[in-house]
Amino acid sequence: MALLELEGVDVFHGDLQAVYGLSLCADEGETVAIIGANGAGKSTLLRAIMGLSPARNGRVVFGGEDITRLRCNVVARRGIALVPEGRRLFASLSVEENLLLGAAHARPGPWTLEAVFDLFPAIRTFRHRRAAEISGGQQQMVAIGRALLTNPRLLLCDEISLGLAPSVINDIYASFARIRESRVAILLVEQDIVRARSASRRLYCLLKGKVTLEGAADAIDLHAIRHAYFGDSGS
Ligand SMILES: Nc1ncnc2c1ncn2[C@@H]1O[C@H](COP(=O)(O)OP(=O)(O)OP(=O)(O)O)[C@@H](O)[C@H]1O
Ligand SMILES: [Mg+2]
Repeated sequence: MALLELEGVDVFHGDLQAVYGLSLCADEGETVAIIGANGAGKSTLLRAIMGLSPARNGRVVFGGEDITRLRCNVVARRGIALVPEGRRLFASLSVEENLLLGAAHARPGPWTLEAVFDLFPAIRTFRHRRAAEISGGQQQMVAIGRALLTNPRLLLCDEISLGLAPSVINDIYASFARIRESRVAILLVEQDIVRARSASRRLYCLLKGKVTLEGAADAIDLHAIRHAYFGDSGS
């Protein structure tokens, strides 16, 4: 049985439908990438899983339980954590205070403050600095660390590399191997096709709220991905 399974999920923002009949799955400890252009529905999909923009139709099943209509704090307790687009740190709180927000209602598990600092040594040094005073890459590490401190079974990452220097992005992606070792599954929203493919085992491409391609990341060629990403007019 898959850890996460979506079946025919429709998500709306008011009257506007952003996700259409979407089905996908992720196994325990698996990294799955979701790629797609601006407005394809990637963040909406993650928000639907997290219970922030609940699906109007279809089902979200996690660990065998239907979580489609659960509120986000209950979804978090079940073991799903979101690293949101734009990080959403509290700028005036310290690095450590931001991290501890994740630990407040944490499930039992291996991720402690020390484990996060071991994963990202760069932020240990700045643990008492305000989040506003550290670099964008370090802020992203704090956002990932905060999510890990809830001890999730599934980590949802929304465009974690946006606006960061390639060397910092490499460091962050290198940390994924350690995260996977703790059996955490990762759903990775990423606009960089090459990076998404190399970081994941399976991949889904979204176009205008629908899945246009899915498969094993190492079996899909870049031409097919580009076609699915941009649609007919872009290839
Ligand atoms: N809060 C909202 N209210 C109304 N429409 C929204 C809202 N959030 C997203 N949308 C619309 O839903 C569609 C999907 O948006 P979404 O943010 O999920 O796309 P995305 O793939 O994450 O894009 P990006 O790469 O720019 O982050 C778009 O048409 C967007 O304009
Ligand atoms: Mg988005």
